[in-house]
Amino acid sequence: MELGLKNKNYFVAASSKGIGFGIAKALASDGANVLLGARNKEELKNASKQLSKYGGKITYETLNASEYDSIKSWVAYGVKELGSPDGLVLNAGGPKAGYFLDFDDEDWYSAFNLTLMSAVRLIREVVPYMVERKKGSVVAVTSTSVKEPIDVLLLSNVMRSGVTSLIKSLSIEYGKHNIRFNNLVPGRIDTDRVKSLDNLNAQKKGITVEEQQKYEYSQIPLGRYGNIDEIGKAGAFLLSDAASYISGVTLLVDGAKTKTVW
Ligand SMILES: NC(=O)c1ccc[n+]([C@@H]2O[C@H](COP(=O)([O-])OP(=O)(O)OC[C@H]3O[C@@H](n4cnc5c(N)ncnc54)[C@H](OP(=O)(O)O)[C@@H]3O)[C@@H](O)[C@H]2O)c1
Repeated sequence: MELGLKNKNYFVAASSKGIGFGIAKALASDGANVLLGARNKEELKNASKQLSKYGGKITYETLNASEYDSIKSWVAYGVKELGSPDGLVLNAGGPKAGYFLDFDDEDWYSAFNLTLMSAVRLIREVVPYMVERKKGSVVAVTSTSVKEPIDVLLLSNVMRSGVTSLIKSLSIEYGKHNIRFNNLVPGRIDTDRVKSLDNLNAQKKGITVEEQQKYEYSQIPLGRYGNIDEIGKAGAFLLSDAASYISGVTLLVDGAKTKTVW
């Protein structure tokens, strides 16, 4: 299926590697123009180089999703370089891992800023362009924790549930403007973040990382981790006109790991 993304502009937050990069790659490989963003400029440059072979315009600017000023300049840069955005991907690093009494107020506020407020602020900066054009698609990268809380990821569990509710609410509020909002839920996609969580869990249990991974695979009916291309294609689909009647959904890309019916 061709997604028809040539000459369309997508702003993808937290996209120098991992899931964000996977989505940017799927968009670029269909001919889209893409704005990349993350904190490390060298990694952005490298990611941009990898995507430029597809023929669309690929540009990048540093972005710290926890800081509103940074979000404002990143969006302004994208509009200047590419024009009005057709689509936006909400993504950022994951909040700190731990249990309830491990966290003080500062930890809670910083997770709030990184995960929930980054989504609020990115949408606030981008949505007026979409309203003006009466068209747009926003995809939030969240987690299976919005369906089943994940042990040790309390801050993620709580903040991402907020993002999920925000997305559903805006899918209703902005339907009349033909702007779609959807959640994309990764369930153990093989990235640096997952590697570091596997290391952490292996250390805690006193087992090897391989043993920890084997355990994780046993919890996933498809018996393996997903890769960034698999989730990238799902993200590009939701962002494209191929999904023009899909809004307000939470799409699991998790190898059937999540056991809830809805
Ligand atoms: N992988 C999974 O299976 C999985 C499952 C559930 C949820 N998630 C969530 O999905 C998101 C992406 O995860 P991933 O696995 O792709 O992680 P990853 O491989 O570690 O990649 C994270 C990307 O986000 C960027 N980033 C991190 N903090 C940022 C910030 N404050 N502002 C802007 N960019 C930032 C990183 O670049 P810089 O460091 O240079 O900024 C990098 O490009 C995370 O929130 C993660 O918790 C992932």
